Amino acid sequence: MSDLLLTNIGQLVSNDPDRDGLLGIVDAAAVAITDGSIVWVGGEAQLPPDYLDLPIHDASGAAVVPGFVDAHTHIVFAGDRSEEFARRLAGETYEEILAAGGGILSTVEATRAAGGTELFAEAAARASRMLASGTTTVEVKSGYGLDVDTEAKQLGVAARLDAELPIDVVPTFLGAHVVPAEYRGRRDEYVDLVCTWMMEACAPLATFCDVFCDEAAFTVDETRRILEAAAERGLALRIHADQLGRVGAAELAAELAAASADHLDHATPEDLAELRNAGTVAVLLPGVSFSMRLRYPDGRAIWDSGVTVALATDCNPGTAWIETMPFVIALASLHMGLTPEESLWAATRGAAESLLLTDRGHIIPGALGDLVVLDAPSYLHIPYRPDSEIVASVIKRGAIV
Ligand code: NIG
Ligand code: FE
Repeated sequence: MSDLLLTNIGQLVSNDPDRDGLLGIVDAAAVAITDGSIVWVGGEAQLPPDYLDLPIHDASGAAVVPGFVDAHTHIVFAGDRSEEFARRLAGETYEEILAAGGGILSTVEATRAAGGTELFAEAAARASRMLASGTTTVEVKSGYGLDVDTEAKQLGVAARLDAELPIDVVPTFLGAHVVPAEYRGRRDEYVDLVCTWMMEACAPLATFCDVFCDEAAFTVDETRRILEAAAERGLALRIHADQLGRVGAAELAAELAAASADHLDHATPEDLAELRNAGTVAVLLPGVSFSMRLRYPDGRAIWDSGVTVALATDCNPGTAWIETMPFVIALASLHMGLTPEESLWAATRGAAESLLLTDRGHIIPGALGDLVVLDAPSYLHIPYRPDSEIVASVIKRGAIV
């Protein structure tokens, strides 16, 4: 919890709805932070002199944006799937590899075998790289355990990341990622396990419950059962929805007023209208389309439907080992039909909304002092220079990290 006065900001992206435009840009700005929270934002010429006693960080005329919020990741895993990646490049499909016992199931095997220390070290390396590229809050899912102990072990690693690194971790229980090999042919029994013993062990360690509701994973009825059990235990809800095909997962997210419906590659205009009416946020993951060489979801149509849009990396060893939100912003701007303004808003405020967080994703008094100083004069450089190290410094709760 630190104090800081950030001065000489050439362009501040505040996301303050009381200021002009989607991004609420303030030129020649300053931001004052005390005890880790923002206390003043405005044109530097209007800075109240009292704040000049705070430790000063000079932004050198650069652009400053809110810390990125990565609303969908699977960073606690062991092993890698580079050979599977090569097989996919040679023509095998993700679904074929999963059906043959590879894919997610091979990461499950490696994650079950890994010790907590090894799992933490690997996840911490990923989270540290995310932080260095401007992510100050990250959602982290379980889902590579698929047994009570390993799911709880993954969520324990997420808690340790939150405690030991200067990045905030929002934990999500994803026991229903796929049916594990030992329950093949007994999927009802696995759903029973998720709803009972696994839920009992994992709900206290998580904020959200997520289900992969799709052709190769769980049905709509199974998903409803699991999410109703989660809601009874006080968890908020997310759904991996209609990524591989349209199975009705987006409609279910709306019916259950889930906080988010993620992927949505096959969602229809009717699905989007239901999500909008339910207040469910659409979390879009263009890194998956990029890494899997798939058609990108139509971000333009999704935004124009009136649903709130968030962006995330989906960082995972199978479909998108992508750690940096600036790259995701570039993909959304270049390939999904979102403007750079919309992409940046979705990667900050939209993502915070999908995690039900009101205290971040914007630079306004009362919010956390989570900011990114760019090595650029304008936020437009984020998609414009997609392979640059665009981040000059990261400020987490008022401390330069
Ligand atoms: O979000 N869709 C399901 N889960 C992940 C992939 C996980 C994996 O392949 O290991 C996703 O794309
Ligand atoms: Fe995912």
